[in-house]
This record gives sequence, C-alpha cells and structure tokens, in this order.
Amino acid sequence: MSEAQAPSPGERYAVFGNPVKQSKSPAIHRMFAEQCEQVMQYRAVRVELDDFERAAGAFFDSGGAGLNVTVPFKHDAFHFADQLSDRARRAGAVNTLSRRADGAIIGDNTDGVGLVCDMIANLGWTLRDRRVLILGAGGAVHGVMEPLLLERPQALLVVNRTAEKAAALAQQFADLLPGALHGGGLDALADQQFDVIINATSAGLSGEMPSLPSSLLTERSCCYDLVYGPEPTAFMRWSAHHAAWAVSDGLGMLVEQAAESFYLWRGLRPETRSVIHRVRSDMEHT
Ligand code: ATR
Repeated sequence: MSEAQAPSPGERYAVFGNPVKQSKSPAIHRMFAEQCEQVMQYRAVRVELDDFERAAGAFFDSGGAGLNVTVPFKHDAFHFADQLSDRARRAGAVNTLSRRADGAIIGDNTDGVGLVCDMIANLGWTLRDRRVLILGAGGAVHGVMEPLLLERPQALLVVNRTAEKAAALAQQFADLLPGALHGGGLDALADQQFDVIINATSAGLSGEMPSLPSSLLTERSCCYDLVYGPEPTAFMRWSAHHAAWAVSDGLGMLVEQAAESFYLWRGLRPETRSVIHRVRSDMEHT
C-alpha cells in the first residue's frame, strides 16, 4: 500500500497489546499530532489474549480509524486484515491496521522500515555492501527481514539458539539476497566478523544474552538491540565492552515505526529526532 488516506479531523486510534500499560505509543502519537496539528485521539488498550478479533472488530465498527498492534497480537492482526501490504504479507505479521474510506481494513507492517530508517537516517550507519548478523529468528526478525535485505547488504547471516528456525527463515527470504543469506546455530559464528550486528533475541528481557565470541566485532562494527530501556541492555554492554564502533538500543526504531504508521493514517511525516529525544529523556527521568 503506498497511498495514505486523506484524514478527517478527530479520528480515533489505539494500540492493542497485552501487556500494554508501559507502551510509549500514546505519548509518541500525541507528540506527532501536536507537531503536525492533527486532531486525533490515541489510547493504549489492553486486550484479553483470546479477544483480539472481537475487540478489533468492535473498534473499527464503532468508527475507529487505525490501530497499532503489539505483542502478542501481530499474527492475529495479520489474519484480521481484509487486505495486506506486500511487506506485511512477507513479514507474516501486522503492526498497523487502517480503515479505508470503503470500510476495508488494510494491514501493514512498519517495524522493518522503522529499524532501517533509525540505523541509516538517525544513526548514520550503512547497510549496503556490509556484512550483517542478526541474532534470533522469532517474530521480530520476520518483521524486519525484507526492509533490511532491500538495503542490499553484502551478506546477511541469521543465527538462533534453535538453528532450524534460522535456517528456515533464511530459506524463506532467500530470493531477496540470492547466495548471500544464510541461517544457522550460534556455532556458525566461529571465525566470522560483521559490520552490523542486530540483537533480536528476547534474551535481554531477562538480562541475559546469547554467548557470543568477541571476535565477531571489528573496530568499525555497529551493534543494535531491538529492545530499549532506561539502562543499556546486556547485549549493548557486551558490545561496548568489546569496543564496538557504535552501539544503539531500539528506541529510535520504536519512534520511526510509529512515524510510518502516522504517515499511513494521516498522510504526514512527523519530524522524529526531537520525539526520540523527548521519549528518551522521559524514560530516563521516570
Ligand atoms: P519476538 O517476537 O521478540 O521475536 P519470539 O518470536 O518469542 O519473540 O522469539 C524470541 C527469540 O529470542 C527467538 O529467536 C529465541 O530463540 P529460540 O528460537 O531458540 O527460542 C530467542 N531467545 C530467547 N531467549 C534466548 C536466550 N536466553 N538465549 C538465546 N536466544 C534466546
């Protein structure tokens, strides 16, 4: 889907998730709306685990204009949508639902463009012709694969604790980087070095990280963790300790995927740097 719908004032938006209390999306979209002078509401709604379809149906039936969808409902949203964008179909997951003028619900996935935009436009990193490593092969990785591959890295290796999942993922996206996309277990990392390393495992949520050889890094390696928080993650600490050239958490990706959703809904592109800065500062002071 390339065309954003013309907005009407005062429309209702929400993020559906479980849990959703900590979501920064309402604050981010409020900042976007204020900046772009849009009259819109945006709420965080906790949806029961087996109730997504009913809740999303009720939201749109009652005039809701758009939804962001977060864990654990991105797969449910994929099935809920009447039509899918190419990137959502490829990801197998939807994080943005929009009601078109004719009432059809369009599913899209803005996570991958959010990541790529943060790395390239905000952080100034390069993916083209670089050697890229992704740690993890879960839902988050499916969501970001296509936009990453469209940047034409020289090679992309996906490694996962469960090697078969990484191998299957590499096979699924192989046509986008013929001969240069591979998947395997952590043992595939021996004697390899990467320019960009992306941690997409959920290990960090419990303060852990996969055990990695420090030889992965060169003095120009850039390390990105998809998660964020007031403190650096275990992966970020490991990267800094081994003298990575640059280290980032995923807060910029969060804001950029939100900006892409906002564009789909309102047809306007908010300025994101000041929003990233404000969200970071709020996070560090609460
Ligand atoms: P998400 O939507 O965040 O990707 P997910 O689909 O549950 O969540 O995927 C979690 C990923 O983190 C998987 O790649 C998982 O590895 P497995 O497929 O082997 O389960 C990875 N992961 C979780 N905990 C991990 C740990 N302690 N060490 C290494 N990898 C871990």
